[in-house]
Amino acid sequence: MVAEIETVPVPLPGRAYDVRIGDGLIARAGQQIAPLLHRPRVAIVSDENVAALHLQALQSALADEGIGSAALTLPAGEATKSWPHLTRTVEWLLDERIERRDVVIALGGGVIGDLVGFAAAILRRGVRFVQLPTSLLAQVDSSVGGKTGINTGHGKNLVGAFHQPALVLADTGILSTLTPRDFLAGYGEVVKYGLLGDAAFFEWLELNGAAAAAGDMGARIHAVRRSVEMKAEIVLRDETEQGDRALLNLGHTFCHALEAATGYSDRLLHGEGVAVGCALAFELSSRLGLCAQEDPSRVRAHLRQMGMKTDLADIPGELPGAEALLDLMGQDKKVVDGQLRFILARGIGRAFVTAEVPQDAVTRLLQDSLSERARG
Ligand code: GLY
Repeated sequence: MVAEIETVPVPLPGRAYDVRIGDGLIARAGQQIAPLLHRPRVAIVSDENVAALHLQALQSALADEGIGSAALTLPAGEATKSWPHLTRTVEWLLDERIERRDVVIALGGGVIGDLVGFAAAILRRGVRFVQLPTSLLAQVDSSVGGKTGINTGHGKNLVGAFHQPALVLADTGILSTLTPRDFLAGYGEVVKYGLLGDAAFFEWLELNGAAAAAGDMGARIHAVRRSVEMKAEIVLRDETEQGDRALLNLGHTFCHALEAATGYSDRLLHGEGVAVGCALAFELSSRLGLCAQEDPSRVRAHLRQMGMKTDLADIPGELPGAEALLDLMGQDKKVVDGQLRFILARGIGRAFVTAEVPQDAVTRLLQDSLSERARG
């Protein structure tokens, strides 16, 4: 029996595309991508880890439909999202004579998706690209919505473009090749969707998150589909983040400071930082009297139940003091006119964006969390 494919449309005017979700989609990539092509040839960019696992499967699925492919394999890791690898990718695409009407495939996690999307955005002033996200984080967040870019010495994602993909193929079968830690890091972004806008989804995750982590395919597909639906809905309202799209940054202001404080190392993966950041954002919301005291406890209880990092105490190694963390938050690129914008919540599933957060409440929250960590 052929597994069913679920489709979430992203009907942006003039650049509408589908996110297709299903087990074993990579084996059907040729059928899925063929309708986009003007000639039977594509370029694939991947990284060493992903290419070793999935490149051959992708190339033979394309070949089954008579589609030829050339592949570039880059080093794995965040350092690849940089000027040198952008240059290398663009020059390689030109060497391969990729034309305006051709399609480039990004096969990998968020790093490859962001880098290749940006290369596609600037190559010949814009060629189409297909995202084939291989991490949970990329399937539920970075492959959808058209944010592309690289990091520079000044910070993460500071150079880039909005360039929507022509198609996203999220093969949930591929998730079984992730380490449990990487799966759970991506799950941090899944929980974020429930917390920011869908209390019923959060409840569903409380009941089914463990099954999804253990490999239940139906639960994985539902978790990815609902996350993508929510992201698509927000991107449709606010593609270029003038307003509502900032909701997707729930937990991220804390997360970015913690990632900077831990040197973007594997002491704290991005999705782990998002989970800790969501717990802190709910704690702050409760202290400001915006949501019930039970809400942050419920958020932490679910993260703990999943075996995830929940508090500052769960981050190994040294952390700077509250003032230094606050200072790192001030470097967040979401700062507008020097004002830190926070995503807070009036309850589970009821997040909102605000610049009205008393700084001393944030400092006290961080001080308390750091002292709990010290007592640990
Ligand atoms: N990852 C946040 C966004 O796409 O807006």
